[in-house]
This record gives sequence, C-alpha cells and structure tokens, in this order.
Amino acid sequence: MNKINLPQASKLTSPNPVSLICTQKPDGNTNLATVSWWTYLSFNPNMIAYAMSKASYSGERVRETKKVILSVPSEEIADEVMKCGMSTGRTTDKVKEYSIDLQEVPNSNIKIPVHSTVAIECSLKEFIETGDHYLYICNVENVYANADKRPVFAWNGYSEIRPVD
Ligand SMILES: Cc1cc2nc3c(=O)[nH]c(=O)nc-3n(C[C@H](O)[C@H](O)[C@H](O)COP(=O)(O)O)c2cc1C
Repeated sequence: MNKINLPQASKLTSPNPVSLICTQKPDGNTNLATVSWWTYLSFNPNMIAYAMSKASYSGERVRETKKVILSVPSEEIADEVMKCGMSTGRTTDKVKEYSIDLQEVPNSNIKIPVHSTVAIECSLKEFIETGDHYLYICNVENVYANADKRPVFAWNGYSEIRPVD
C-alpha cells in the first residue's frame, strides 16, 4: 500500500454520502447546507451524527435552536445541492436564489426539499469539538421517505453530485 493523506482517502472512498442540513433561520425560513460527513450512530435509541466546519451558518443555527432535519436529496436537485455547498446562509437566501421547492414536515418549523429521498428529523443532543469541525450528535425524532426517488452521492471526492448508475 502507498502512504496518502486523508483528503486523498476521501477521494478513493467516493461515492460518499450527500445530505442537506436543514435548519431554521431567525426569519423563520429554512437554510440548506450540503454535508457529506454524516453517519448513523445507533438504532436503539435512534441516533445520527454529522460534522460541520466551525464557521458554518448551519452550525450556528442548530446550536441555537437545537433542531435540525437531515435530508438526503434526490437527483432532480443535484446542481442545486452543489450550490448549497458553495454559499453560506449568512449572506445568501439559498432556497430563493436556487429556486428549491420545499415541503412542510409535520409539527416542525423546518422545511425540506420536495426532492428528498429520506429525511431524518432530529434534536441536538450535544456537539463536540473535532479539529476544525464540530461533530453534532443528534437524537432522531422522526424519519420520512420517498422510496421511489433516487438519492445522490458525491463523486471524485466532493466535486460531482449524481446518483449511483
Ligand atoms: C459535496 C459537498 C459536500 C460537503 N460536505 C461538507 C461536510 O461534510 N461538512 C462541512 O462542514 N461542509 C461540507 N461542505 C461545505 C458546506 O456545504 C459549505 O461550507 C456551506 O457553505 C455551508 O453553508 P452554511 O454556512 O449555510 O451552513 C460540502 C460541500 C459540498 C459541495
């Protein structure tokens, strides 16, 4: 085996997961941010976790509201998902700017894209400093699915977003 660095390893493990971290902004609207680094943690109780850079606006929002929905987007919005990963909700209304259609989630203030394969509604349990990111550990409250929709993945590291063929 050859010695490589961790970013190179993440290219070799492509396709990697893709999700949209959906949080509520102070004006009540929803912010969407693209996140690959998420994982299931436990099925009893149901828990997930995701890592976001310390500077992310989404991090600020979930630390304040303690609520987040992790949505796995489907192929219809692959281009928009890439754009959500290249802009911040601090200065951009991503939903409006990228014309992303949202749907309501029962009893939640946070909306999710219509084009979602799975949506995992969570409350924040705790967050831990992990280098230049925080790891957000979440209790799962509800899980929803559109099983007929094809989820997208990140290819070649994080440079291309599309389904598995
Ligand atoms: C395919 C892809 C995957 C990404 N995965 C992550 C990730 O796992 N963690 C992270 O902190 N940022 C990730 N990003 C970058 C964030 O989406 C980006 O910093 C975004 O601007 C954050 O938005 P916000 O400031 O509105 O929260 C990814 C971007 C792309 C395009």
